[in-house]
Amino acid sequence: MSQKRAITVAYGDGIGPEIMDATLHILQEAGAQLEIETIDVGESVYKSGYTSGIEPSAWDSLRRTKVFLKAPITTPQGGGYKSLNVTIRKTLGLYANIRPSVSYHPFIDTKHPNMDLVIIRENEEDVYGGIEHQQTDEVTQCLKLISRPGTERVIRYAFEYALRNERKLVSCFTKDNIMKITDGMFHKIFDEIAADYPELKSEHWIIDIGTAKLASRPELFDVVVVPNLYGDIISDIAAELVGSVGLAGSANIGDQVAMFEAVHGSAPDIAGKGIANPSGLLMGAIKMLVHIGQADVAERIHNAWLKTIEDGIHTPDIYSRDARQEKVGTKEFTTAIVERLGTQPERLRAVHYHVGHDAPHHPPKPPAKKELVGVDVFLHWKDGSPNDLGKKLEELSGDDLKILMITNRGTKVWPHGLPETFCTDHWRCRFVSPQGEGTPVTHYQIIDLLKRVADAGLDFIKTEHLCHFDGKPAYSLGQGQ
Ligand code: NAI
Ligand code: MG
Repeated sequence: MSQKRAITVAYGDGIGPEIMDATLHILQEAGAQLEIETIDVGESVYKSGYTSGIEPSAWDSLRRTKVFLKAPITTPQGGGYKSLNVTIRKTLGLYANIRPSVSYHPFIDTKHPNMDLVIIRENEEDVYGGIEHQQTDEVTQCLKLISRPGTERVIRYAFEYALRNERKLVSCFTKDNIMKITDGMFHKIFDEIAADYPELKSEHWIIDIGTAKLASRPELFDVVVVPNLYGDIISDIAAELVGSVGLAGSANIGDQVAMFEAVHGSAPDIAGKGIANPSGLLMGAIKMLVHIGQADVAERIHNAWLKTIEDGIHTPDIYSRDARQEKVGTKEFTTAIVERLGTQPERLRAVHYHVGHDAPHHPPKPPAKKELVGVDVFLHWKDGSPNDLGKKLEELSGDDLKILMITNRGTKVWPHGLPETFCTDHWRCRFVSPQGEGTPVTHYQIIDLLKRVADAGLDFIKTEHLCHFDGKPAYSLGQGQ
């Protein structure tokens, strides 16, 4: 008998307590070795004055057990309340969000009978840093940050997940034909890590065509790993396609702590009626068992659940009259699963879970040789044509830095721009060494240049340094440059 593992449990609001009781009962009957600590989160905590929905003392339990099984909560109406999920995700560094979308044809109605995919979404980076500025009258910006370590861990998790779950294919979606540096790095790291898993197939799609394919032929996909924003969008598309959001569980994985839950909310409309479907939370709990090394128990439960669905024992939300099914409440459904522990489904594909092996270890990349070779100075300017600005900046060029080009919203407008190009009040002015692009420059030369720019009455709103890493330019060219 394996050792008991401590976990933190929150019963949540609405149907939360009913489906948590059902889930824990099934886990116990299946032989899960758990020691449960309970914390309060949700409506009552919000209303007692904690705007994040969690009491300070609850963090101690989460940090001690490192595993959180959470029932859905009700977010009170009205402003001032912060999303509990976002707080937990950010505070505990939960970098990967795992969301499966599976159809259970012909036992549950669906438009895509062969859909069985998992979306693994990077959960912390990309534009979700929320670093935004208005820079000029006409232009706003949001910073998109993609880091190598952040990308490595989510992609490695995706490949390990595929192995553990007997998946065959890992797909990556990015827009690296446009964002060659940020999405380009995500794609590059995907290819690097894929090489460590020769037993798995891997492929990359440009996000737009990949998403179109996913929406029309989801059966082509297996595990899909994506940067944060794309993942936000395609996981909702996938959930909508499969048609049974009430059956999906999700995991949020961090290096230290992980959180497991149902995808749905607290369903206040059916709370206390004894008809809630515990499957979503149960699917979250199954992921938790695999995560804590009790994969055998997870497998027993999942297969008993599949057999129950196949035997036509359904809660009202998935019950279909014409399929000769038996409509049952939460308790009967739970009992039916427990009775089937140890059995396998006959028509639905049985699951097999494995405890993860040690992921191949890569030493962190040694830092590259970095050289400063120029600067992009961004100006708020509305006093004339690109040629007027080009002339002004040529006058400010010195023997340290000279103007190389000007772009407007990324398109080159000087030298040799076209009069048709629409210009707003936001200009990127690229300065490099007069000895030629790629020649090193210093921070002091940039400061001197900025002083000349300010003295000329020009409003610079930000600068971005141009660097070479290991001798390679690490900045984008202007469109048309
Ligand atoms: P919901 O998912 O709670 O309910 C949508 C519909 O699906 C309702 O008709 C409900 O009865 C049904 N439903 C959901 N889960 C079910 C289950 N297990 N069995 C049977 N039927 C089920 O979404 P809604 O109504 O938009 O939100 C209700 C509350 O839940 C809100 O306060 C919302 O903020 C919160 N919420 C919490 C989440 C979480 O804790 N992770 C996630 C989503 C919403
Ligand atoms: Mg979303």
